[in-house]
Amino acid sequence: MKILGIESSCDETAAAVLEVRVHRFTLLSNVVASQINIHKKTGGVVPEVAAREHTNTIISTVRAALEQAGGWSRAQARPQSVRSHSLGSRPKIDLIAATAGPGLITSLLVGAETGRTLAYAWNIPFVATNHIAGHIYSSLLTNQPIQYPALALIVSGGHTELQLIKKNRHLRCLGRTRDDAVGEAFDKTAKLLGYPYPGGPALSKAAVGGNPRAVPFPRPMLNSKDFDFSFAGLKTSVVYHLKALQRFSRADVAASIQQAIVDVLVAKTVRAAKKYKVKTVILAGGVAANRTLRTHLADHITALGKQLILPRAEFCTDNAAMIAAAGYMSKTTPWNKLTVNPNWELGR
Ligand code: KG4
Ligand code: ZN
Repeated sequence: MKILGIESSCDETAAAVLEVRVHRFTLLSNVVASQINIHKKTGGVVPEVAAREHTNTIISTVRAALEQAGGWSRAQARPQSVRSHSLGSRPKIDLIAATAGPGLITSLLVGAETGRTLAYAWNIPFVATNHIAGHIYSSLLTNQPIQYPALALIVSGGHTELQLIKKNRHLRCLGRTRDDAVGEAFDKTAKLLGYPYPGGPALSKAAVGGNPRAVPFPRPMLNSKDFDFSFAGLKTSVVYHLKALQRFSRADVAASIQQAIVDVLVAKTVRAAKKYKVKTVILAGGVAANRTLRTHLADHITALGKQLILPRAEFCTDNAAMIAAAGYMSKTTPWNKLTVNPNWELGR
């Protein structure tokens, strides 16, 4: 089957076509229109600006994904009598999956409404997909089978959570952040140090060659018995010590912030993996693109003799291939029963 995935929950407009044959996943196209350059000007995402941009780019993004997947001829795509941003006739697609939450409500609406309108017009089954499930199932794109029970650490700009995936594939949220998400911790501390939005990639680049033990930043909730996280204290610590930090090189400060975050994430994931005797650990979400996190987690999880699935970096940050994969794992939604939920929680 071929699945069209659509993603617009935050600041990327994305569409992809994924082919699934006997549980093997082949990506036929993967188009991501990033809004990073627009949000750089304001140092963060302004929801109304993001939604307007999604509206401008959603049709051309979906069309590009369909064209690149080859299931749709260009002649069909642009009949002369129709305006250039129209979509034309039915492509060879068996399922349409669009993100319906969590995320920014006005941004979510653009992709979800586009998805269900196409599903109705083309008479194709539709599935309203959870964005976090998308991050988790980006692991399927590696074609490494997940062994259950599995544990997923989802680390993104909006979320930090540990999800236990049981044999029947039901999810149970073991813990989550009580304040800032990991991506926010990266972005906010990076902003304080003068790096442009989004700070995560910039801070991790600046950390290369730095001494990760140079500055003893706090590691909140490292030893708490639960699986919750807290990252707001890290930002506060940087605010308080901004002057004192000038004694250190930028690389040392960046490496120390990164290490404080990685230490907490790895310790809690290892503890949960042991406690619930999971067979597979999945790292997912935008921050999963971070090399230090990937290598530290890999060292610890392989030492436990467990399988670790690390999606390729391009599938860690928001994309629609992961939404198509999660759509494959989810139940279909009648197009007229769609509800977009900006606070859609998984495993609770
Ligand atoms: O999953 P994602 O693309 O969007 C959300 O659903 O939030 O995650 C974006 C987040 C941003 O906070 C960005 O700074 C962070 O992922 N990020 C990174 C890296 N690449 C992206 N953080 C640390 N190191 C990276 N290499
Ligand atoms: Zn995301």
